[in-house]
Amino acid sequence: MTATQRTAEHNRTALITGASWGIGHELTKLFTSDGYDVVLVARSQDRLEQICAELEDAHNITATVIAKDLSVPGAAEELYEAVSAEDIHVDTLVNNAGFAIYGRFSETDLERVRELVQLNLVTVTELTRLFVRPMCERGEGQILNVSSLAGMYPIPKAAIYAATKSYVLSFSVALANELAEDGITVSVLCPGETDTSVLKRGGLQHSALPEKDLLDPETVAKTGYNGLQQGQTVVVPGGIKEKLRHHLPRILPKTRVAATAKDYWEKE
Ligand SMILES: NC(=O)c1ccc[n+]([C@@H]2O[C@H](COP(=O)([O-])OP(=O)(O)OC[C@H]3O[C@@H](n4cnc5c(N)ncnc54)[C@H](OP(=O)(O)O)[C@@H]3O)[C@@H](O)[C@H]2O)c1
Repeated sequence: MTATQRTAEHNRTALITGASWGIGHELTKLFTSDGYDVVLVARSQDRLEQICAELEDAHNITATVIAKDLSVPGAAEELYEAVSAEDIHVDTLVNNAGFAIYGRFSETDLERVRELVQLNLVTVTELTRLFVRPMCERGEGQILNVSSLAGMYPIPKAAIYAATKSYVLSFSVALANELAEDGITVSVLCPGETDTSVLKRGGLQHSALPEKDLLDPETVAKTGYNGLQQGQTVVVPGGIKEKLRHHLPRILPKTRVAATAKDYWEKE
């Protein structure tokens, strides 16, 4: 079956990690409004099932729930096998699930560090590797990875989070270039502080971020979704402030960038 025939006969399918809340939930609504079938992944099974039921009622689409903790080693392969067992062909992969830790690195719980690196970095890499191969074989596909403005700064007290998001940014931009010849679009969404539960956990509630002018998750998701559909590689939601925060680290020495980020994140 050619790509055109398949699109004409079936809905396209988007797999979205972290679809239960926040930016991922808003992205899910956008994909289903456009007629995509969706595979929703997060840990909260009941919440995902409720979202699926609402979406299937509202749109002529199929929504599948796969409840999974993606911070556990091996989760990416288990997810890929579960999707393959259902004979679902993923046209769009959205690597959105993630969390942050804020606090002194020397005092951070080692198990939480492992989970953060596994979820924000290893699982993103493994899911991309697993789902990109069939996309290459079909000669089409889309990948949307959620990084952060934090990925552009070394951030004292959020060193691991910022480094994982920096990895996602670099990985995505490189893949966007490499996979263009295979007909695959890769976009990376880099929001600033957004009003979701991420800012209330992991110590971030003790940073200055919750007091900033927050972006709303609906607008962030819409900007990311449009950026993906328009084939933009780096997508930065927001206005002039976010654009400045995007460009600033390119002109300052790295040590100065870290000091600026420390002042921005730390409460007075
Ligand atoms: N909010 C911000 O200020 C901001 C800014 C820049 C970038 N981001 C990035 O945006 C992405 C989405 O975050 P958000 O702000 O929308 O936060 P959120 O509302 O807390 O959503 C996080 C999502 O990830 C899922 N998740 C968390 N841990 C998981 C795990 N171990 N396994 C599977 N799913 C897991 C959560 O679902 P369950 O709890 O049901 O598992 C939830 O659906 C993250 O990658 C975050 O780093 C956020």
